[in-house]
Amino acid sequence: MKALLLAGGLGTRLRPLTENMAKPMALVGNRPWLEHLVTHLKRQGIHDFVIAVKHYPEMIQQYFGDGQAWGVSIEYAVEKTLLGTAGAIKNAERLLGDRFLVVNADIIHEASLIPLLEFHMQHKGAVTIGLTEVEDPSQYGVVEQTWSGEIVRFVEKPDKSQAPSRLINAGIYVMDKEVLKWIPQGREVSIERETFPLLIEQGVGVYGKTIDGYWMDMGTKTRYRQVHWDLLDRTLSLPFAQKEQNKGIWIGEETVVGQGVLFVPPVLIGDRVRIGERSVIGPYAVIGDDCELGKNVRCQETIMWHGCKVHDAAQLKNCIFGYGLELGASHILHEAVMNRMAGGSQA
Ligand code: GTP
Repeated sequence: MKALLLAGGLGTRLRPLTENMAKPMALVGNRPWLEHLVTHLKRQGIHDFVIAVKHYPEMIQQYFGDGQAWGVSIEYAVEKTLLGTAGAIKNAERLLGDRFLVVNADIIHEASLIPLLEFHMQHKGAVTIGLTEVEDPSQYGVVEQTWSGEIVRFVEKPDKSQAPSRLINAGIYVMDKEVLKWIPQGREVSIERETFPLLIEQGVGVYGKTIDGYWMDMGTKTRYRQVHWDLLDRTLSLPFAQKEQNKGIWIGEETVVGQGVLFVPPVLIGDRVRIGERSVIGPYAVIGDDCELGKNVRCQETIMWHGCKVHDAAQLKNCIFGYGLELGASHILHEAVMNRMAGGSQA
């Protein structure tokens, strides 16, 4: 079965990080999330992928090519204009088989797909939506289901006491190709707002099944940070390329650590990183490959992508830095999100 990965959104909420890149290529634990996703799906027997791209498509195409290096086959459905989450599926129609998997490529998850596929084969419906349970449903569209799991409606942002369930669309679907006839061609169509309600109205059989394992939409800065803290706590158990040198301290190859450096776990330090004397790193720090940190740097609750340079005595707390950012000596930054090309910072 093929998996269609939706990777073309603008990622506005994660800007400036996603100003000049596709959101699913954002690093998660020092590797593009999309790469984790492809390997996660491959482990579950998916070898054929279509990636639906629009925003910075060449970045994804150049990185993955035809997928051979990952032992999978990857094709691309490129959009000229933004088509939305359903329009992107329609645009990929000619590349898809009779039944396929659709995954929002910005959802960090470790779900097992077999139960979802098995459930899809048991019911007679045309769509199975993976569902995840949230603590507070008032921020989401929750589903109302029959005893057999068929979804009868989505209730948008219900009051906590009125909500029919705490289950929301997890952005992972099994679909039969026949439903694509309900998606208009050549314009922006949202699967959540337009297609699913229409399919329910048409009675094609839209079912929901709760997925297991970790789930988080990384689309906002707060959640992007949370994904990393969960990763360091191992609530999210994606594999690290780096070795665990001491409990909660992962350090990469050829990394040079100066005298008196203190690592406060949990921390993940990439390959070929240089850290100057007496710096204090952590708790909760993810440092990308080839970063250089000067002496007496304090770096806490911070994510830094590859190739950043932080000069002596800088202090960072709760920051996210994109690729290759340079920060002058003695700067004090709190909750800064910065990208080299955009150059700005946002809370
Ligand atoms: P925001 O601008 O911050 O809302 O981000 P987004 O639009 O990238 O994300 P959203 O949560 O709306 O989209 C869910 C998933 O669908 C993400 O993986 C997006 O990359 C993808 N997506 C959204 N719109 C499109 C689209 O028009 N085309 C394609 N190919 N993918 C899309």
